[in-house]
Amino acid sequence: MNKIRVAVLCSGGGTNLQAILDAQAAGTIASGEVSLVVSDNASAYALERAKAAKVATFVADKKQFPDRRVREELISAALEERGIGLVVLAGFMTILSEAFTKKYDMRMINVHPSLIPSFCGPGFYGLKVHEAALARGVKVTGATVHYVNEVCDGGPIIAQKAVCVEEGDTPETLQKRVMREAEWVILPRAVELVCGRLLSREKS
Ligand code: GAR
Repeated sequence: MNKIRVAVLCSGGGTNLQAILDAQAAGTIASGEVSLVVSDNASAYALERAKAAKVATFVADKKQFPDRRVREELISAALEERGIGLVVLAGFMTILSEAFTKKYDMRMINVHPSLIPSFCGPGFYGLKVHEAALARGVKVTGATVHYVNEVCDGGPIIAQKAVCVEEGDTPETLQKRVMREAEWVILPRAVELVCGRLLSREKS
């Protein structure tokens, strides 16, 4: 069966990458195949996860290439070289330019650790999202997977899952629960859904 070649872009631990790799191994991602893991951080643990799964890696390190345009050009070339059909941002901490997002219009998705439109946009990433949710006192938060366009966290929503905030939560405990109960569940499902959509678009 024809599969969409998927690139996963990560900056840190890569637990969302792991959830995608596990879903692929379990056969629940069948319409796509992770062909490349890209990082803007040479010491990201996500790169070790990729190597363990025998997936090719590409690094455009922020320290080595501080100019975002240069990193984007390097990444763009790596994606084209491998015929990537879907780009997945999974904890990728660079906000991509409009030129880059246009290239992958409806072929790039992102996972965000809140129920968009709450706690999203520039400055809301990683633990900061959960700090803001706790500071506001929300009782329910969650995660969102959305298409990426030129507006940071503003593209069409594909999937969301709510998670309850518990008494005594810290940003760290909340982050962990949102990952386990929401991100690792909806991201692999969204990858399969979007790869399926892209495959049927190829056929028509
Ligand atoms: C995840 O919680 C992801 O949703 C978040 O960073 C974490 C990466 O963890 N992404 C953002 O905040 C993007 N705005 P991981 O490297 O273990 O997947």
